[in-house]
Amino acid sequence: MDFNKGWFFRLGDHPEAIQEDYAVEGWRQLSLPHDWSIEGDFSETHPTQPEGGALPAGIGWYRKTFTLPRESLDLTTWIEFDGVYRNAEVWINGQRLGIRPNGYSSFKYDLTKYLKYGGEVNTLAVRVDNSAQPNSRWYTGSGIYRNVRMVRTHPIHVDHWGTFVSTPSITDSLAKVALEVRINNKGLSHRKLDIISTILDAEGKEVAYTSTYSDLRGGKDTVLFQDFEIAMPELWSTDRPYLYRVVTQVYAGVQLLDNYETPLGVRFFAFDSKEGFSLNGKKMKILGVCNHHDLGALGAVVNTRAIQRRLEILKEMGVNAIRTAHNPPSPELLNLCDQMGFIVQDEAFDVWKKKKMNADSHTFWEEWHRRDLEDMILRDRNHPSIMMWSIGNEIREQFDSTGLAITRELVSIVKRLDTTRPVTSALTENIPSKNYIYQAGVLDLLGFNYKHKDYKDFPKRFPGMPIIATENMSALATRGHYDQPSDIIKRWPQAYDKPLTSGNEDFTVSAYDQVSAYWGSTHEETWKSIKDQDFMSGLFVWTGFDYLGEPIPYPYPARSSYFGIIDLAGFPKDVYYMYQSEWTDKPVLHVFPHWNWEEGQTVDVWAYYSQADEVELFLNGESLGVRQKEGDDLHIMWRVPYEEGTLKAVSRKAGKTILEKEIRTAGEAQKVQLSPDRKSLKADGKDLSFITVSIHDMEGNLVPKASDKVSFEIQGEGTIVGVDNGYQASMEPFKANYRQAYNGKCLVIVQTNEKAGRITLTARAENLQPAELVLKVE
Ligand code: GAL
Repeated sequence: MDFNKGWFFRLGDHPEAIQEDYAVEGWRQLSLPHDWSIEGDFSETHPTQPEGGALPAGIGWYRKTFTLPRESLDLTTWIEFDGVYRNAEVWINGQRLGIRPNGYSSFKYDLTKYLKYGGEVNTLAVRVDNSAQPNSRWYTGSGIYRNVRMVRTHPIHVDHWGTFVSTPSITDSLAKVALEVRINNKGLSHRKLDIISTILDAEGKEVAYTSTYSDLRGGKDTVLFQDFEIAMPELWSTDRPYLYRVVTQVYAGVQLLDNYETPLGVRFFAFDSKEGFSLNGKKMKILGVCNHHDLGALGAVVNTRAIQRRLEILKEMGVNAIRTAHNPPSPELLNLCDQMGFIVQDEAFDVWKKKKMNADSHTFWEEWHRRDLEDMILRDRNHPSIMMWSIGNEIREQFDSTGLAITRELVSIVKRLDTTRPVTSALTENIPSKNYIYQAGVLDLLGFNYKHKDYKDFPKRFPGMPIIATENMSALATRGHYDQPSDIIKRWPQAYDKPLTSGNEDFTVSAYDQVSAYWGSTHEETWKSIKDQDFMSGLFVWTGFDYLGEPIPYPYPARSSYFGIIDLAGFPKDVYYMYQSEWTDKPVLHVFPHWNWEEGQTVDVWAYYSQADEVELFLNGESLGVRQKEGDDLHIMWRVPYEEGTLKAVSRKAGKTILEKEIRTAGEAQKVQLSPDRKSLKADGKDLSFITVSIHDMEGNLVPKASDKVSFEIQGEGTIVGVDNGYQASMEPFKANYRQAYNGKCLVIVQTNEKAGRITLTARAENLQPAELVLKVE
């Protein structure tokens, strides 16, 4: 059961709330998932610091009361939390169940022996303590920010995370499937059981079946092994993510006691030291991005549609893999990666024993690291999308011999639970003798962050070892901002060491691919160093999306990152199309910047293109010449003396026009336009429409520097749950019914309630024609 509704929340410490007769006066009623940090105001003085997003943290309490029918007296009941940031301490009816320090771990508590039935009220109380700061190098959010479920089963049932499915052999004609099932008998009586597991194909048709007999005493558990064969298996791939599922039913005679589902994807893959990565026997490059977990204006709150939208935008760009930097993700992300065809590198830690921040997870390493890692593997090992486990990112212990023992311990924890996937770690030290995580000799796959110039030497340095670039680029950009000339490459901190003097005063970074952190490079530079190296299994760009926190290179009021290929609101920056031209087969022609400059100024016009031999550029009908990519070029450029009018680009293949693009000088801002990503929504209280708000002139051209404040009014069956414009130094709140446009655009996110009907959204800005949009809710 979804257990997200009907909670009460209050900021601050309220230990009295564990008492059953406590009155929640002054508490706010809400539905989970919830993140209280994202509701706050930015401030330089918040202890999270700009690195953590400059939003408030602290302590908060959640409380929920519920009743259970007398008939369920004999059931086993537990509560599952997918993630609470952090130090979640849980009480049921005044009884303390435990604490979970790690804010990204999923956990559950058995409530059975504390529950009351019939009319009697049960009380859950959760204290969340995110007050020890700083505890992260990025924004974490605060609260019960992932889903909560209550599970009620027969005392004889498949254990929580109780199955493990794998595919020991796969050929075109036959896949062998192995299933491990753990059955608990929490009851007193000895029962004879039939455990029947059925594999269903994507249409729900039965394709394989196994039945096992078990004799299980009260208070015991048992592990069963079941084998299956699927004839002519459909394989899971990134292009065609075909999913089966395994349904396990526990019977005592004819009585069905439990029903448990395990996802199944039939695929095989290999990381090779010479040939790189292959999936189902076909060589391919892992074209990945790293992402943090926040969803921009929604904060850390998990929302399936919001994650799906992000994955759709990435898929369009040609991305086929996600690294869950630097922590276990939400189960929803993994389900979507299974369904949409993304390869996942699932990562456990950003720090081990040695800290990066004063209050980070090194503070509970000793007590919790085994459990946190085990739980990640147990929870996630059935996802076909996951093809790599990472035991850590840029871990300090790689630099000294304490890294040896910890690496061996962590790898043995993983191997005890799963030997079907390689274990890696995102390393920075690439001199073999100096890296103790490598020296431990137990990694299956070497992951390296940055230092792309060294890649070519790796086959000699690490003979026989498969290699992947776990993190790259750290290039920086603000959507829609362009510094001329475009070929001055700046590496921070050299270019931005005194941020307000040598950076831009408005905290912008040029969106020509010309700025990066000094440990990285422009997008083009690193991609060129990887694309033709066969032995490199692939790469993960830092990052797909901008995220809250880590606003390198600027100080406050910058409060979100510049690393994204896509901004925080979900609007692609220009370099998105460089990747699209390289990573997909579709014809691409992307020309930028906008065409509103000072008369006579020289402007660099760039184009990314593919599936064509050349591009010709015209200004007001006059040709500025034909350009072709030479050598390893990834873009072409014209230096154009600016003159108002129309810039037109034409891409051609063998003389035939493939694509045309026009950019016109925009006049005065005249009207607001609303473009929703979806017009028809589900009445489930969760579904979202992401509505792009743009400012246009009379002819319909986007006004590239427009910064009008847009106010929203909503009527009908929905609410506004977030606004954004992608500007990294905006001090406007994310929870509001207004937003300033930034470089012509902003975003409003609308969520349905549980009623079918319509949602009407009106957007108004001073002196502009308003816009109205109607969404259907079914
Ligand atoms: C890496 C680190 C990331 C992020 C990035 C910024 O070294 O692993 O978490 O901080 O730098 O460039």
